[in-house]
This record gives sequence, structure tokens and C-alpha cells, in this order.
Amino acid sequence: MAKYYHITTYGCQMNVHESEKIAGILSGLGYTACENIEDSDIAVFNTCCIRENAENHAFGNIGMLKKLKANKRDMIIAVGGCLTQQIGKADTLHEKFPYVDIIFGTHNLNKLKELILKKQKQKKAVIEIEDSEGSICEGEKPLRTSYPNAWINITYGCNNFCSYCIVPYVRGRERSRRSEDIISEAKELIAQGYKEITLLGQNVNSYANGTDDISFPELLKRVAQTEGKFRLRFMTSHPKDFSEELAKVIAENPKICHAVHLPVQSGSDSVLKAMNRKYTSADYIKKIEILKKYVPDCAVTTDLIVGFPNESEEDFNDTLNLVKKVGFASAFTFVYSKREGTVAAKMDGQIPEEVSKARIMKLIELVNSQTREQTSHYIGKTVEILCEDYDAKREKYLGRDEYGRMAYFSSADNKIGEFVSVKISAANGMSLAGELI
Ligand code: 5AD
Ligand code: SF4
Repeated sequence: MAKYYHITTYGCQMNVHESEKIAGILSGLGYTACENIEDSDIAVFNTCCIRENAENHAFGNIGMLKKLKANKRDMIIAVGGCLTQQIGKADTLHEKFPYVDIIFGTHNLNKLKELILKKQKQKKAVIEIEDSEGSICEGEKPLRTSYPNAWINITYGCNNFCSYCIVPYVRGRERSRRSEDIISEAKELIAQGYKEITLLGQNVNSYANGTDDISFPELLKRVAQTEGKFRLRFMTSHPKDFSEELAKVIAENPKICHAVHLPVQSGSDSVLKAMNRKYTSADYIKKIEILKKYVPDCAVTTDLIVGFPNESEEDFNDTLNLVKKVGFASAFTFVYSKREGTVAAKMDGQIPEEVSKARIMKLIELVNSQTREQTSHYIGKTVEILCEDYDAKREKYLGRDEYGRMAYFSSADNKIGEFVSVKISAANGMSLAGELI
């Protein structure tokens, strides 16, 4: 009889890719993916704890499975990801949801197969969280679900300890994969027909720091030199480590997209200092100038946090001014979320919710107006789009240009995985629409 799995993923791209690794393990055990959790024989929650709402979301969804599990006793429910890796959280989960069968962490994802086999033999829940700071968790082959895009981890963990961020506590110290493994994985994926490779890490710029391996710009260059037509992206860069050498590599290698995600978090120097970001707003602007000197058309995107402890109206205005000055192509905006165990959680001067809300609304309005202004310039232009998907509701194919702008178009044939030319006829705020030519 066919056995089905369902994975619910919360949080960032890193988690999306880790879910592909989980899918690889489950398909190795003979499970097939299913769309509805109700139909699954094993339901996995790959959680995130970077902000409180991501955590609450996961807790809510796991809670909703109580009834289903009561009627379907053989179903296995497994919870993994960053949330379980926080000190004491696995026990809290077990107490709150005793019907959860397996609780695992980010460091032992590759052992999920063993944990499932163990659970099938015993009645008791299997709770195993590892604190293996230095190791690299290489799972079985991922079951990739994002064709024509493929994600490749280059580093795991983070050493930066930004004062608001829980990542270094739940993902451990930064460690890098060997460059030869990364390069051969990229080659293999391109040979298989993948058209876009994204190198992933919390801070890709510090790749291989303190080891005998090649630097990040060199790694990027070598991957970019792989034969075949494909696009190369990377995520995420920390501004303090963004170098002139990297800007040159982007400029000199046509397969590397002219799009850089460079989270600034705030435009206020006192907030940046309290965040332990190790740069000032002037340093950040300087990095952008260096990047644009070599790659003038580079689209820069960012992450911004409002409502960090003690953020004054003046600090917030500094953020608005920086956003205006840089002219980001788009930005992810967040309200500061207090995370237990971080340095910022102990700071006085927490900002009232209504103040943060008003600030984020204002910030979103500014970011969106800039994005709209930029997309309006596309009208009448012909752009190369890598077709990624079909939107059944709109009855249109969609994909992105090298700068990351989404475009919709109609086609009688399936274009997924193809580079196509689209003449843009409309800009609808964030996305574009046009005709195939
Ligand atoms: N509160 C709000 N946003 C956060 N981020 C990380 N930690 C927090 C937090 N505690 C944001 C940062 C980071 C992005 C991935 O998530 O902007 O760049
Ligand atoms: Fe968190 Fe800072 Fe590391 Fe990014 S660089 S994961 S924000 S600690």
C-alpha cells in the first residue's frame, strides 16, 4: 500500500532546502508526497524560531493535528527545525503535544530515517536533539522541489551574534562545506538541467574563513565557470564582509546575477551598534558604492527591522533616509521580535507594539513606492525571464529576470525551465506582465 508524507515548512530559504533533504529521506523510506496533511502517513513540521509569529504559527498547526491523530493512530507526526533546537523547547513541545511521535533538531536531520525506524518499534515518543556545534549535517540526497532552481548549502550556522538573533544559538557555529563538494554538486545539477543555482549560507561572505579552502569570491567564480546556460545567485551576505573582490567577480562573470541581498537592518548608527552589526550606515553606503562602481545595474535588496529596543523616532527616520538613499529594489521588513536567550532580550527600552506597527506601516509604504517606481520603468522593455512555474488561478506562466523581478506571461506550451523573452506591457506594483516574443 502506498505511504504518503506531508511536510510543512516555516521560515527561510535554508529551511525550504532542508525540507528537500527531509523529502529525500522520506522518499528513500518509500513514502510519496501528498498535498493534504489529512492524507499523510507521516507529517513533518520543519519549524523556524527567528520571530515569535513563526513559532506561534507552528505551535498552532501542530495543535490542530490532535483530532486527526486521535482518529489515525498509525500516523507519525515529527517536529524538527530551529524551534526544537532552543533550550528546553523539545520538552515544552512534548508536554504540550504528547501525541507528537518524533522531535528532532537541525543538527540531526540526517538521522531522521533512524528516528522513524526507532519510532515504528516503540510506543514512546522519540526525542533526540543534538548539540553538535562543529559538524556538518549532510543528509541523503535532497528531493528537489523547486526546478528549475536548485539550492546548495555552502555554510551552516553563524558566528555573528547580532544581538536580536537566535540563529547562532540554534544553528551553532559557522562551518563550511569543502569547495570541491560544492563545485561538483553545482556541476551535477547543471548537467541535470537546473537553470538557476543559489549558494546558501547565513553569511556566505565568510565562507571557509580560518580554513585552507578557497574564499567565497573564488568559489563563486569557479561555480560560475561551469559550462552551460544557467544563473548563479547567493544568499545571504553580511555587509561587514562584503568585499571589493566580490563586486569584481560579479562584474566579470556573466552567469552571476546582478542582484545582491545585503541586509542592513537599520539606518541608525546607535541602533546598528546595539544590534552588534559591526558597521555604520556610512560603511553600508560605501559598500553599495563599491558594488555599483563595478556593477552599476545591480539590484540591491535588504532586510529591515523596526522597533529594536530604544529605537527613537530619529533612529527610525535614519532608516527611512537610508532606504531613500540606497533605493532598494525591494526589502523584507520585520517588527523586532524578542527572542529569549539573545542579548537584546535583556535590554531595557522595549518599544510598544503600536509604535512598532506605525513604523513598519510607514516603512512598507516607502519600500513599496520605490519598488513600484522601479518596476514602472520596465514597460516597453524586453527582458529575459527564467520560467519557474504556472499560476493556475491567473492561467499564466511566471518567472524572474536576473534582477529578481517577477513577470507573468501567457503561453500555449509549457515553458517551465526555459529562458524566454518577454515584452513587458504592465507593471502591477511588485510584479510585471507581458507577452512572449
Ligand atoms: N526580530 C525581527 N527580525 C529578525 N530577524 C532576525 N532576528 C529577528 C528578530 N529577533 C530578521 C533579520 C534577518 C532576517 C532573516 O530576519 O532582518 O536578516
Ligand atoms: Fe542572525 Fe546576524 Fe547571523 Fe544573520 S548574521 S543569522 S542576523 S546573527
